[in-house]
Amino acid sequence: MLTCRRAIGAAVVFIIMLFLVTHSHSHEPTIKHLILKHGSLGNDANTADKPLKVELTPTGGGSARMGGGKSVQKPLVDMKRAPLREKLAYQFPYDLESKFPAYIWQTWKHTPASKDFGELLRPAEASWSEKHPGFIHEVITDQVAVHLLRHLYASVPEVLQAYHALPLPVLKADFFRYLILLARGGIYSDIDTHALKSAIDWLPESVPKDKIGLVIGIEADPDRDDWAQWYSRRIQFCQWTIQSKPGHPVLLEVVANITLETLKQLESGKLDAFRTKTGGVIEFTGPAVWTDVIFDYINDPRYFDMATGKGNITWREFTGMNSPKRIGDVVVLPITSFSPGVGQMGAKDYNDPMAFVKHEFEGTWKPENERHIKPKKR
Ligand SMILES: *[C@@H]1O[C@H](CO)[C@@H](O)[C@H](O)[C@H]1NC(C)=O
Ligand SMILES: *[C@@H]1O[C@H](CO)[C@@H](O)[C@H](O)[C@H]1NC(C)=O
Repeated sequence: MLTCRRAIGAAVVFIIMLFLVTHSHSHEPTIKHLILKHGSLGNDANTADKPLKVELTPTGGGSARMGGGKSVQKPLVDMKRAPLREKLAYQFPYDLESKFPAYIWQTWKHTPASKDFGELLRPAEASWSEKHPGFIHEVITDQVAVHLLRHLYASVPEVLQAYHALPLPVLKADFFRYLILLARGGIYSDIDTHALKSAIDWLPESVPKDKIGLVIGIEADPDRDDWAQWYSRRIQFCQWTIQSKPGHPVLLEVVANITLETLKQLESGKLDAFRTKTGGVIEFTGPAVWTDVIFDYINDPRYFDMATGKGNITWREFTGMNSPKRIGDVVVLPITSFSPGVGQMGAKDYNDPMAFVKHEFEGTWKPENERHIKPKKR
């Protein structure tokens, strides 16, 4: 027990040191309030080869909700009483022009050094290191996660309270990916997911990386009338693999959403009832809320100049895509990229040049049916 504790302690200290070394940035907010214009979306080929006309217009004051920019002159503001979203924006400023951090984050019950890690998972875990030399690759255990989050979110105690209150491991695992990416950025990928292609090659050459802050894939694009029987959304973005820069507004919003919803349910005593409810995970922390938050963001006039667009962006813009599509600072990869080999919904096979990761849906080690509604033919 003692040695186990000591090992965890050492791991935490190591990770924290790593951050201090690699992230010795001051807390001077570098938030840039950007209006990302999207014009007409055009077709796949158009957006991939000839990126959308996206103008980035820094607008001094910023809006009230994302007002981190306002504190430039006053770096020592007391944020304790600020609304949650403002606190998060202050703590984790988004710098669009920064590089994608070279981190790979995964979580699992055991460290890769443990004999209990799981033989089936080893090749998947190893594939990330092999494909990403020079990246820092961390498999964070549940115990280490607690310490790490306490360090990263010390000044936003609501988030920690919500994390601890979540009643199921799967909810915590979902929440953790958003929390680590908001705070540190990089790639998050589920432990049962193989890297097929280095993230260096995920985006087409033509896409300027200093104008992209979030890379996501499609989990489901069920083009059938009865889609609602199988999926929670007509287009469902996946959250088993995500790449982002720290502070991305989508991550900020999903963290704020889950924190506020959790605390609300905690207060009303409904959180315990959650244990017995099925399907709730998808809406609460899973792909449904993730998808909703992304659509809200790309339709948000605070970030996007809607005047030049043709109305709201909906699932129609992403159905049947064969190449990446860029909307402002978000790149949506086609279904083949993160869900190859599923044999449906237009997904191509693992050897397709657009296949980037292989997610093991059939793993028996996590309640997959809690996470995704399964399509009929599988
Ligand atoms: C969280 O997102 C859902 C959409 O999935 C929305 O209905 C809900 O109101 C949001 N909650 C908060 C507190 O923002
Ligand atoms: C567009 O989306 C926004 C945000 O989701 C929503 O408030 C608005 O009502 C939508 N407008 C239309 C025309 O559907």
